[in-house]
Amino acid sequence: MSNPIIHTPVLFQEVMQSCPDDAHYVMDGTLWHGWHTLWFLAQWRTVLGVDRDQAMIAKARQTIDQQYFDENRIQIVHGSYADFEHIKQQTGVQQVDYILIDIGVNMEHFKDASRGFSIKHDGPLDMRYDTSQWQPVALWLAQATYQDLVDNLVEYADFSEKYIDWIAKELVQHKKSHPFHTTHDVRDCAKNLGINDKKLAVIFQSWRIQINNELDEFDRFLETFVDYLRPWWRCCIITYHSGEDRRAKIALKSLAKQNIWIILTKHVIKPSWQEIQVNKAARSAKMRLFEKI
Ligand SMILES: C[S@@+](CC[C@H](N)C(=O)[O-])C[C@H]1O[C@@H](n2cnc3c(N)ncnc32)[C@H](O)[C@@H]1O
Repeated sequence: MSNPIIHTPVLFQEVMQSCPDDAHYVMDGTLWHGWHTLWFLAQWRTVLGVDRDQAMIAKARQTIDQQYFDENRIQIVHGSYADFEHIKQQTGVQQVDYILIDIGVNMEHFKDASRGFSIKHDGPLDMRYDTSQWQPVALWLAQATYQDLVDNLVEYADFSEKYIDWIAKELVQHKKSHPFHTTHDVRDCAKNLGINDKKLAVIFQSWRIQINNELDEFDRFLETFVDYLRPWWRCCIITYHSGEDRRAKIALKSLAKQNIWIILTKHVIKPSWQEIQVNKAARSAKMRLFEKI
């Protein structure tokens, strides 16, 4: 096969260079459309592709099918990258040579109004990656108390205490007479209160992180992934949110101190200026690379 790449994934060169030539079993824990996976397959590796979102798995299948890859070298699992028991059960693979997770939301989620991730497009206030699990944001918001709203923003938004207190009070007051069902119900309310789009996007992000348990899943991954890697093989983590990056830094420094890991990236790897010009979504990406001892 010549050149299978149609879309260039974030930090593509850096990820490919970080995967040792002889790594056979690769786990791509955040498959999305399968662009990283496509390259792993092109390098004759065997891939376990995991994603929490069924819609993304369907897209990845399309990408892979179009390239006529050998079905024996790809196994796709619907689930969380942190659920190693489920991944083992579904694939029968007990340990891998390389793990990539490139976490978070992507532009596709924002563009699809029916998923409710974006303040721009009107749609049901949902924001779940896995629509077969948990509750949509609208339901959580309907039940949320003033304290729930405060706790959520304190944890995930970089706002002052006074501002958080004010937003939470206003939202609780508003939803008594006008429950929030759609993204634009919230946007209209925010407009009336004078909350700008940048701040509203941070509020949406905080709700999204909460209802998908994003940081808990990441913590679960950091606690358990060591056992899923064979000794002397590697793990590559790409984060976009400061909360995730902080967690990765602390957990992996602690593993390095216990002589479980060697940190291969003394400084995080960030996308080049050129990459950011082509792909704005890459601008906050941070890559960390580790080798198991
Ligand atoms: C930034 S995209 C990955 C892009 C991919 N590396 C590529 O370039 O083709 C992140 C993906 O992670 C998925 N995701 C988010 N949380 C997840 C979790 N806990 N387990 C598995 N997948 C998850 C999302 O559904 C999304 O498809």
